Amino acid sequence: MKVVLVVNNLKKYFGSVKAVDGLSFNVKPGEIYGLLGPNGAGKSTTIKSILGLLEINSGSISVFGDDPIRTPTKVKKNIGYVPEELSLYESMTVAELLNFVASLRGLNPQITSLDAEELLKSLNAKKYYDSLIASLSQGNKQKIQIICALLHKPKLLILDEPLSGLDARSSAILKELFRIHIENGGSILFSTHIMEQAQVLCTRIGIINQGKLVAEGTFEELQDLAQSAGATLEEVFLKLTDQDEVTNGIIANLKRLEGKT
Ligand SMILES: Nc1ncnc2c1ncn2[C@@H]1O[C@H](COP(=O)(O)OP(=O)(O)OP(=O)(O)O)[C@@H](O)[C@H]1O
Ligand SMILES: [Mg+2]
Repeated sequence: MKVVLVVNNLKKYFGSVKAVDGLSFNVKPGEIYGLLGPNGAGKSTTIKSILGLLEINSGSISVFGDDPIRTPTKVKKNIGYVPEELSLYESMTVAELLNFVASLRGLNPQITSLDAEELLKSLNAKKYYDSLIASLSQGNKQKIQIICALLHKPKLLILDEPLSGLDARSSAILKELFRIHIENGGSILFSTHIMEQAQVLCTRIGIINQGKLVAEGTFEELQDLAQSAGATLEEVFLKLTDQDEVTNGIIANLKRLEGKT
């Protein structure tokens, strides 16, 4: 079976900032691949590059064999994208937005509205159908954004920190939506900075730091790796991403500050 996504030696610089610095990884059919890394690691830049939203410096990206810069329409047809920062039309109602997205995607309005209704129900958001987007809470906006990304039944779902604003119930439903998407033959790439999320959701994890892949494997494989180094995976993650010493230094300074007051 064809590999879903290939990112090969991707480099994306913003001036002197090497946001992505020679990153390579694949997503295979049926996988939930998690890009796990701290703030500023290059996760969103990688995702935006995959969507063809940024011009890359070098390397290559292929989505079902297609280049996102050369064939953007084809690539976007295969992808459902939930960005880190929500981009919804605030002055529309939920119903208007869903119809708008359906028409942009050339979808059958009847089938799409049934699908949308089902998704709204499952995420406990049916009651907002006629509400203005602007009036929704952050988490509910996020649910609408996720539904918009699912409407055209994309083969690859890409979500940038999808669980950040969701409550426990909605997170559980999203996990279920992920499972159903995979069962239906789809694949998922998502980013997170929280190791537990990667553990619960991913079939494979790539740990990314300063634009580079520093470790890759299933959660169990990464855990074994950590164990053989005599540490927990959490400790290894902090070490791999240079967060341990920095964090300890900051905490020490804070303690000093508190001591002064
Ligand atoms: N448009 C931009 N212009 C300049 N620098 C940028 C731009 N976008 C990202 N960067 C820089 O690139 C680096 C990687 O940023 P990116 O947003 O990809 O990180 P991230 O892993 O998604 O972090 P977070 O967990 O905070 O969302 C950071 O140093 C960031 O400041
Ligand atoms: Mg980000």
